Amino acid sequence: MSKKIDIPQHIAIVMDGNGRWAKERGLPRTAGHQAGEKVLFDLVEAAIGFGVKEISAYAFSTENWKRSPEEVKFLMGYSREMLRTRRDSLNEMGVKIQWLGRPQRLWKSVISELEEAQELTSKNKKLTLNMCVNYGGRAEIVDAATELARDVKRGKVKADSINEKTLEKYLYSPKMRDVDMFLRSSGEQRTSNFLPWQTSYAELVFMDVLWPDMTPELLWKAIEIYSGRERRFGSAQ
Ligand code: IPE
Ligand code: IPE
Ligand code: MG
Repeated sequence: MSKKIDIPQHIAIVMDGNGRWAKERGLPRTAGHQAGEKVLFDLVEAAIGFGVKEISAYAFSTENWKRSPEEVKFLMGYSREMLRTRRDSLNEMGVKIQWLGRPQRLWKSVISELEEAQELTSKNKKLTLNMCVNYGGRAEIVDAATELARDVKRGKVKADSINEKTLEKYLYSPKMRDVDMFLRSSGEQRTSNFLPWQTSYAELVFMDVLWPDMTPELLWKAIEIYSGRERRFGSAQ
């Protein structure tokens, strides 16, 4: 008899390997981003079927500004177009879109597209899709600490009463679940500043597949790997 599969409630995804996918084909890096665009939506659709409740997708990091101006420009325009073309079908699928990231430097047109998608889908309950655009984990903690310090100064919070729950309230999405499964494509085995606070007890699953080649079947394979892990959260068995 097969063992019951444990479905992760929250999956964080580092969509990596677009550049290498394009390079293997002698194409510009941007062609890799283009090829990878549909994959996230296919995975979201499949994840709903599997019973996953939340997905956080790393679309652009605070470090990705180091790339060439052409690639940054492409990625900005691309995020905007992608949101515009996909938001209605995501909405019909019952997906609630949320933006996680810093507004500084981010194109205004991308921010307004993210905000529109957020507003349109705010009441949906099937699955929450956190689009992490201009997101950095350390930046998120710094931003939370700054706001918290302001509230201490205003007398709204007592410094001696600060605990993990207090700080969590200042993160970009305070209601976010802890991440259960951290999935990265492309074979790289690092977290690259993605959700450090929320992934402190996540199971890490690294797949040797470039992002444009990811499929719902491979997502299921990752879930099977996750399900085979023993999670302890510091306790002894
Ligand atoms: C991930 O693919 C997409 C983004 C960072 C936007 P990469 O562009 O990092 O692809 P590789 O890692 O160079 O292959
Ligand atoms: C992480 O991938 C960021 C995104 C997928 C958006 P990178 O390709 O930027 O990470 P490093 O540079 O390999 O660590
Ligand atoms: Mg990369």
